[in-house]
Amino acid sequence: MAKRVVLAYSGGLDTSVLVKWMQEEWGVEVVALAVDVGQVPGADAEYWGAIRARAAAAGAIEARVVDAREEYASRYVANAIKANALYEGKYPLVSSLSRPVIARHLVAAAREFSADAVAHGCTGKGNDQVRFEVAVRTLAPDLEVLAPVRTWGFTRRDSIDYARLHGIPITATEDKPYSVDENIVGRAIECGAIEDPWNAPPEEIYERTRAVADAPSEDREIVIGFERGVPVSLDGVPTPLHLMLPELDKVVGVYGFGRVDMVENRRVGIKSREIYECPGALALILAHADLESITLERDVAREKSHLEFRYAETVYDGLWYSPLREALDAFVDATQRHVTGEVRLRLQPGRCDVVGRRAERGLYDFALATYEADDAFRHEDAAGFVRLWGLSVETWSKRQRTEEPVVSKERRDA
Ligand code: ARG
Repeated sequence: MAKRVVLAYSGGLDTSVLVKWMQEEWGVEVVALAVDVGQVPGADAEYWGAIRARAAAAGAIEARVVDAREEYASRYVANAIKANALYEGKYPLVSSLSRPVIARHLVAAAREFSADAVAHGCTGKGNDQVRFEVAVRTLAPDLEVLAPVRTWGFTRRDSIDYARLHGIPITATEDKPYSVDENIVGRAIECGAIEDPWNAPPEEIYERTRAVADAPSEDREIVIGFERGVPVSLDGVPTPLHLMLPELDKVVGVYGFGRVDMVENRRVGIKSREIYECPGALALILAHADLESITLERDVAREKSHLEFRYAETVYDGLWYSPLREALDAFVDATQRHVTGEVRLRLQPGRCDVVGRRAERGLYDFALATYEADDAFRHEDAAGFVRLWGLSVETWSKRQRTEEPVVSKERRDA
């Protein structure tokens, strides 16, 4: 059995109780590690100070906060944007992306504090346990991974009672039906009334998006600048991604754009009703994909679109630290060399639409595309090209096609 454990600490009810519970039940020393991935927009030193104090009050021998926002944005989120990664075509991987960076810091802290185990507060039904455990086992196979919540059998009520009994300061009340996970990419909301997939999501669950009815009546346009596929500026102002996302969440979210309501397939085989709100991330993927439409050569674009699904699945399934993800990233990076330019987005109630794009090394050739006088397209090449393009199916039709011939019937009631 482990002697010293680094716990992925959120400051919430369960992980606060876990600090004490692991000491009492297992006799281990607990180091609490909170990784700031932007889960509380605008959180300051005071906020994180309170989180550390709570861990200490719960009996942690050390409570540490790591600001991983920049690292998370530049080494995880940026890759996902370049890949236009949307799980099952809809979900921009909010929680799936943050677990590998948190796992990396768990391992780093375990080394620093000479711990022999790490622990997380995930349940046995979710994807997050898979992501934490596979990541830790990949990065540090010698560390034990403890998942007390899978076996401790506590209800929410039990946790609250346990916290009170042991003087752990918590703010949770029992009437908090939702399980929310968030970071700079967005918010993921589960449980409560939305467990019934027929129930419309109640308005109260949203924090980063307004109801469409409350959106500003005036349209707004914003311009996102990209360099090699990475968002680098907002309205011409250079802005690092970890600051751009929260900024965009505000700007885009008030228009009521960025909500996702889906039933998704979890890795563990369960279908789960999930609500996400990710106005900034979805706007960036929309803009990025559009910029690719003028910067990627056709066959590259086609091939990439297949791999984007695989990319999202790989990350969703907890395989961030895997040769497949690395290889997919290498492919994606090779495609992004000229994805540099700007995209204009128009915001209207409930909408975020691309209304313009430009790129210095774009492949859009006005002289080839225009129907006006300065057309440079060689029309005479088209006839032969089209004949040869269809030659194979023409031959098939003459020799093998079995369907009845096409006949025209006059319409007599006309
Ligand atoms: N279903 C999403 C995912 O697997 C969100 C998970 C949210 N986690 C949570 N503890 N509420 O990525």
